[in-house]
Amino acid sequence: MNYVSHLESAWDGTRFPAGQVHTIHEGRPLWVRYDLSAISRDMSREDFAERGSSLWRYRELLPLPADIPPVTLGEGMSPILPCPRLGEKFGVENLWIKDESQLPTGSFKSRGMTLAISMAKHFGIRRVALPTNGNAGGAAAAYAARAGMEAFVFLPADTPHVNKLEASLYGAVTYEFEGLISDCGRIVQEGESTMNWFNLSTLREPYRIEGKKTMGLELAEQFGWKLPDVILYPTGGGTGLIGMWKAFQELAELGWLEDNRMPQMVAVQSSGCCPIARAFEAGEWCAAPVTDAATVASGIRVPAAIGDFMILDAVRESGGIAMSVPEERILDWMRLAIRQEGIAVCPETAACIGALEILREREIISSSDQVVIFNTGAVQKYLEAAEVRLPRLSPTKSIDWQEFATQHHA
Ligand SMILES: Cc1ncc(COP(=O)(O)O)c(C=O)c1O
Repeated sequence: MNYVSHLESAWDGTRFPAGQVHTIHEGRPLWVRYDLSAISRDMSREDFAERGSSLWRYRELLPLPADIPPVTLGEGMSPILPCPRLGEKFGVENLWIKDESQLPTGSFKSRGMTLAISMAKHFGIRRVALPTNGNAGGAAAAYAARAGMEAFVFLPADTPHVNKLEASLYGAVTYEFEGLISDCGRIVQEGESTMNWFNLSTLREPYRIEGKKTMGLELAEQFGWKLPDVILYPTGGGTGLIGMWKAFQELAELGWLEDNRMPQMVAVQSSGCCPIARAFEAGEWCAAPVTDAATVASGIRVPAAIGDFMILDAVRESGGIAMSVPEERILDWMRLAIRQEGIAVCPETAACIGALEILREREIISSSDQVVIFNTGAVQKYLEAAEVRLPRLSPTKSIDWQEFATQHHA
């Protein structure tokens, strides 16, 4: 038994029965819908506090039937870390980072994959495939291994090396391709009929969003069921932002929010690939694909997103914005945030640090706003972007401690 009432096309509202394998409709994603009145009748938000910390604590708001064990690596309840030094630098009194780098496989992608792979297993699917910019591929490979399932991962050749390693080490058949994630997506689609694999691409199956939704559920719980004023989120395919917005809508409908004040959602992209920011500025509902996508923030190098209109709807409904930040400054913002707060901020999140600086300068975010930035992944996965050169000590040369002390202001 679970509380899913049906699935529904995000594009035209067509309804589909629950309990079957679903993909897209008219090339666009499906929402999972719940009987929220039954949930509010059967439980209260306080019940969650008595459960373990994994995201499966929100079981009633997730699609896996209650009697089916999930495929899990213990994901969820990432910490909300106050960032007083960064806050002071940008003039924000209340700044937090919700640190998703602490999740299994080092990114928020494990939230989507624990759901997608659990549902796929439940439906008897034995083989999955996906295109990826890296982190989703690593997570899919890990959860597929956990489920005893076959996985095929296709990634751009210039994806961070660690992502290639993890996908392959977890046992996925992993190919690199000279091109972008959209090209890899075409390969997965082309192979579907011959390879008989289930396509796990972003938003082509309905359950990854449900996993990402738990970021919003956790945030609400961690903030005492009162949402912050602004959320900055690095946006590629959009599952994180769309999922969180869905969580807030469901919580509001359940009557579980202290006041029904919604945060302003800020979708952050790089100037090297910003289809959503461009569509937002142009007042459009769908985003024109980008042809020359290039950014060090590989997770947000998504030239075309099938959930573009869902991202734009969420941003607009929330009174937020979609924006881009200068690509050439991303690594500086990354180093700054890591150093100032000791959090393993990835390049994608660094774009959000930049967005905060810009939005404060423009006074779009005020000093008293409660601001949450999502650190979607661990910097340790980005060896190429985070390269450091260390001064070398030699076993044959003794250290001049006077000079050392002067150098380090001792
Ligand atoms: C670290 C990181 N941040 C953000 C994103 C963007 O994901 P989405 O827009 O689908 O939530 C990705 C996707 O690959 C990622 O790996």
